[in-house]
Amino acid sequence: MLVLGIETTCDETAAAVVERSGDGPGKILSNVILSQVGEHAAFGGVVPEIAARAHVEALDRIIAKAMADAGTKFEALDGIAAAAGPGLIGGVIVGLTTAKAIALTQSKPLIAVNHLEAHALTARLTDATPFPYCLFLASGGHTQIVAVLGVGDYVRIGTTVDDAIGEAFDKTAKLLGLGYPGGPQVEQEALRGNPARFALPRPMHGRPEADFSLSGLKTALRLEAEKIAPLTDQDVADLCASFQQAVAETITDRLRAGMRIFRERYGAPTALVAAGGVAANQAIRKVLHRVGFESGSVLVAPPPALCTDNGAMIAWAGAERLALGLTDSLDTPPRARWPLDEVAKQVQPASFFNRPHSGNAAQAEP
Ligand code: KG4
Ligand code: ZN
Repeated sequence: MLVLGIETTCDETAAAVVERSGDGPGKILSNVILSQVGEHAAFGGVVPEIAARAHVEALDRIIAKAMADAGTKFEALDGIAAAAGPGLIGGVIVGLTTAKAIALTQSKPLIAVNHLEAHALTARLTDATPFPYCLFLASGGHTQIVAVLGVGDYVRIGTTVDDAIGEAFDKTAKLLGLGYPGGPQVEQEALRGNPARFALPRPMHGRPEADFSLSGLKTALRLEAEKIAPLTDQDVADLCASFQQAVAETITDRLRAGMRIFRERYGAPTALVAAGGVAANQAIRKVLHRVGFESGSVLVAPPPALCTDNGAMIAWAGAERLALGLTDSLDTPPRARWPLDEVAKQVQPASFFNRPHSGNAAQAEP
């Protein structure tokens, strides 16, 4: 089964062709990504209008390259998949409409993929991880612990009540005058910093449920920085190291709670699976290994390029759905909000109105 996948929900214009055969891992025949980071950097966040226009300009070329790299033609495809949400609506419309046009002209099935589902199923593309597993998804717009029970069968165990973890990294970087996106820069600075210098909070620590809260940590960091301003290079490194340490300990505690809840409800998971841009962080990967090991589960952490947004994960999720006969009609709407677990309770996105740009806000937790 050969599927083209298109991803345009945020600031990456991406297309890929993936092959799925049987229950094994998938084969990525091509995976083309054009990052718009340079176009948004000056604004310290993703600007939706700029993103949508950049997707329009680049997408045809990116799809053509994905097809050429894979050495295939539209006629050979079994389906066309696009991320239909959640995300910045302008970008989602560009990708989904393009997929519909290809599906219509080629008389191929359309698969409207939930971007979060694509992150959730990536472990099956890379490692053929069997269901059920426990997913830790941490990106710029999402922080969730999810029981992945089958294709289309997801139960949210925990989420953030305010900022996403990647967003907290980005805001920390911005506060400290580091570039955008902030995660990799904070990680780099933290390498030469002292994680014990600043006593930052560990929000939600010890709570029995598996939810996160990041905004208090961000405020505490700002207050510490203001106390010692102007900041030296060493101050910045120490603040980054202390922040990253607080996040790592928070993830450890919240994931322990999540894994316990998973076991109580569904028995032992086959794996703890990491996804989203934050999972590219080496210090965080280390704590994920530890939590997985403690609970008797292996950690499946796809390579960083497949943890961050990409077309291969959309193509793969499309192939998984297509294999079950789950296709979509050409009037399927794009969705700015689309929770993975449609019945999970609403949480209050407290930070929704005070973000620097609506880029991440549009993907805020449902
Ligand atoms: O999954 P992703 O590529 O895009 C979405 O947000 O959907 O994740 C991007 C986020 C950004 O907030 C970025 O700062 C964060 O992931 N990130 C990291 C690292 N690399 C990317 N956070 C911490 N450490 C990193 N090395
Ligand atoms: Zn994503």
